Amino acid sequence: MSKSPEELTETEAAQELEYLAQKIAQCDIAYHRDDSPFLTDAEYDALKRRNEAIEALFPDLIRPDSPSFRVGAKTIDAFDKITHTVPMLSLADIFSVEEVYGFIDKIRRFLGLADSEEIEIVAEPKIDGLSFSAVYENGRLITGATRGDGTVGEDITANLKTIRQVPLTLRPTADLFEMPPQKIDIRGEVYMSKSDFFDLNRLQEETGKKVFANPRNAAAGSLRQLDASVTAERNLRIFAYACGEISHPTWTTHAEFLEQLKKWGFPVNPEIRICKNVQEMIDFFDYLTQKRSALPYDIDGVVYKVNSLELQRRLGFIARSPRWAVAHKFPAEQAVTKLEAIRIQVGRTGALTPVADLEPINVGGVIVRHATLHNADEIARKDIREGDTVVIQRAGDVIPQIVRVIQEKRPTDSKPYHFPEVCPVCGSRAVREGEDAVIYCTGELFCPAQQQEALKHFVSKDALDIEGLGDKNIEMLFEKGWVQNAADIFDLQKNHELELVALSGWGLKSANNLFQAIEKIKQGVALERFIYAVGIREVGEATARLLAHNYLSWARFLTEMSSDTAFEQLTHIEGIGPVMAQYIVDFFQEPRNRELLNRLTAQITVNDYMPPHQKTTPLSGKSIVFTGTLETMTRQEAKAKAQAAGAKVVSAVSAKTDYVVVGSNPGSKQILAEKLNIMQITEQEFHVMLDD
Ligand code: IVH
Repeated sequence: MSKSPEELTETEAAQELEYLAQKIAQCDIAYHRDDSPFLTDAEYDALKRRNEAIEALFPDLIRPDSPSFRVGAKTIDAFDKITHTVPMLSLADIFSVEEVYGFIDKIRRFLGLADSEEIEIVAEPKIDGLSFSAVYENGRLITGATRGDGTVGEDITANLKTIRQVPLTLRPTADLFEMPPQKIDIRGEVYMSKSDFFDLNRLQEETGKKVFANPRNAAAGSLRQLDASVTAERNLRIFAYACGEISHPTWTTHAEFLEQLKKWGFPVNPEIRICKNVQEMIDFFDYLTQKRSALPYDIDGVVYKVNSLELQRRLGFIARSPRWAVAHKFPAEQAVTKLEAIRIQVGRTGALTPVADLEPINVGGVIVRHATLHNADEIARKDIREGDTVVIQRAGDVIPQIVRVIQEKRPTDSKPYHFPEVCPVCGSRAVREGEDAVIYCTGELFCPAQQQEALKHFVSKDALDIEGLGDKNIEMLFEKGWVQNAADIFDLQKNHELELVALSGWGLKSANNLFQAIEKIKQGVALERFIYAVGIREVGEATARLLAHNYLSWARFLTEMSSDTAFEQLTHIEGIGPVMAQYIVDFFQEPRNRELLNRLTAQITVNDYMPPHQKTTPLSGKSIVFTGTLETMTRQEAKAKAQAAGAKVVSAVSAKTDYVVVGSNPGSKQILAEKLNIMQITEQEFHVMLDD
């Protein structure tokens, strides 16, 4: 019989806490990872209670790996933000066997490999959960974060610690020389098993709380809880599959890395296969398709990853996804339902998008109420009519689509659908521009729908991200006439403070929170966010970043966009075509836009562009042209490397070109470089400048 906690000396207490931390961690692994618990639930609970009792008496002895951290920490108001030192990227999706061949072909071409050379691929299930990052320093879990926008996530350290499968310390391996790295960022997926999801929903229903649509939503709702004790009650699980920052890796392949993860105590998915060719990849995909419904958790496809880390490094990234990995998604799930009505939505650029209102139906675990109809041509082509019975499908997070109409079920009095000739909101003429299938409202900034959508976009998460200004509040502020355009937001406190505070559902606290959030924006926003937020047609986040990268400051961007050469400059940027360039030029030529921009920048500080924690290289910000055949890498690889080092790669030599990299048998570009006196460098010199 052990002593009661009160009888323990300090040394005995420390020893016992150490013992309990280890014992409980072992139980967690046996229970969750190995599915073979060696204690009953009651015995396990007794250990945890004893640990808590000793900690209560000896608070100074609480260990960083204490099992009590696994249950709810204190409640917080909002999540802090964590910047990922290595961004958390997403994967490109593919849906067919041809695309699997395409993925491998592209890799071969990029690396300049012959068809006979084998590329080893690791195939893994794509877990349908939410990704996490867990940073360990000297083997101890320091922080946990969600993916967020890939660059900045939410601090969910307390929540992650409540998940029993997440090791608080990396288990020392038998080999003493295998010390854990000084720092490692482990990534993986948090998910809820199918059976835990059903149990949770039953409980939610019994207690009158909201039920979750699917295990993924349940996992997300459980992980992102400000009160981590709620997370602790939900049986969340993890699979680890990747790493971000690492001080010094001791493995050379992804497969070895997965083995190391297991040794440290992480659950790694057992359904993983090393494939030597495309046929083996497809066989694995077919095998998992069969097995999918029998697995205890949801998966939505297979992830293929190049096994060699050296090849991964050479392949690098394109935009937000690696070239060395891809997600092969399972086919979309389909269902049959009735199309009740076709409704027209007006977007922020005036595009009229038809939406189908459906009789609600469950498609693969999600209740679907609406489907996109894309545009008038699509409705005509598929002859979709109100009252039709239709086949719909959904794949992953994309908006459900209508596959076809079931003709036999069409009501006898049905009539073809006529696309409206005027905007349903402002009554302006609706026109089709050129070849474009999209029909636009011509009301522009006078159309209330366009104004509201532009506002929603301006404050949205990826734009200025003003907390407290969700769609509902924007609609309210707009209808009251307090905020008609983006600049009005910054005059809200001055002009309508008292009225807002007096509104039902608001009050001093929420109004102040909103004003504070607005004030924070005034202090400084990133150039690329600002460019994205102002809502230039077709300019998404990637293009906004490209523009920021090329013009570096708002003042310069504005000046250049007002100059006669704006169009020409834009089309010289790799990634911006003539159509997009024209939209950008048009935007800046519109006097109302210029006036709005002036009002905005009078209030907001737009920060100069900061490349995402990239070390500066001799190539940063330089304009570079390649000519001739390169020896050590393909043209594609060279281009990607130059871009990663911060250079702009352009296709034609001009007076603005900084360097021309000359390979063997150069063409007219070299002659022009000679004429214009542009610095010419060899492939070897290029490598030196890359610093690799
Ligand atoms: S690897 C750079 N492996 O899929 C590549 N991702 O669309 C990092 N996911 O955000 C991801 N299972 O949330 C990888 N076995 C797996 C995965 C997986 C699920 C998710 C992950 C990621 C998303 C990419």
